[in-house]
Amino acid sequence: MKIETILTPAELPALAQRDLRATACVVFDVLRATSTFVTALHHGAKAIIPVSEIAEAVAIKNSESILLGGERNGVRISADGIDFDLGNSPREYTPEKVRGKIIVSTTTNGTRALRACAGAKTVLAASFLNLTATAEFLREKHFETVLIVCAGTRENKADEDILAAGALIELLVGDETIISDSAKIARTFYTESKSSLAALICNSENARRLLAIPELRDDVAFCLKRDIFPLVAKMEADGTIRCG
Ligand code: MLT
Repeated sequence: MKIETILTPAELPALAQRDLRATACVVFDVLRATSTFVTALHHGAKAIIPVSEIAEAVAIKNSESILLGGERNGVRISADGIDFDLGNSPREYTPEKVRGKIIVSTTTNGTRALRACAGAKTVLAASFLNLTATAEFLREKHFETVLIVCAGTRENKADEDILAAGALIELLVGDETIISDSAKIARTFYTESKSSLAALICNSENARRLLAIPELRDDVAFCLKRDIFPLVAKMEADGTIRCG
């Protein structure tokens, strides 16, 4: 298995030129899109449809079983007289709210990163919440290449995504693994930081933004919980994310 990593969202447009047919893409947007999707699936959501634009999300909403979710500037979307049903806090996606529902979600970076991987053999939405389940799935399937995509924040790198990538790499490496230079950066960052992971992430740009908003501050600690949801979140060929 070859492991590569995209460390910054600025690298995403190049994916369109790349043949990903033998590649599994694993997208991390730890704070918070992929953590939220994993939570929603664990709590019984039927599927998540990630879309890039607010208008696209609104156009898909045509029944009571579809909920609109996501954020702009971290908060729930209210646009053109439409209030979205949910924001992007994983703690909002309770069984009572999401069981049996399809959630159309648009977020700043996470949904964009997932959509950029659409040509891959397999696309997974991953987080600390389902890290080991994701690693087990990747090991069982023997993919030729695993490309870990760090969704980042706006156009920049995000520490928490690179650290999650490094944690996944640590679970995947074996004698036969080939690791690209970018994957080595993520792995080393994680190895050198794991004893102070929470403190480091709490000081990241994304975490500081969330910690400054009283109703969202607990999202940071929630998204750092490890392996509380033993599921794989897989994006199907039709673009929906379901339990794999
Ligand atoms: C994103 O997709 O950029 C994030 O999930 C942002 C957030 O949740 O605030």
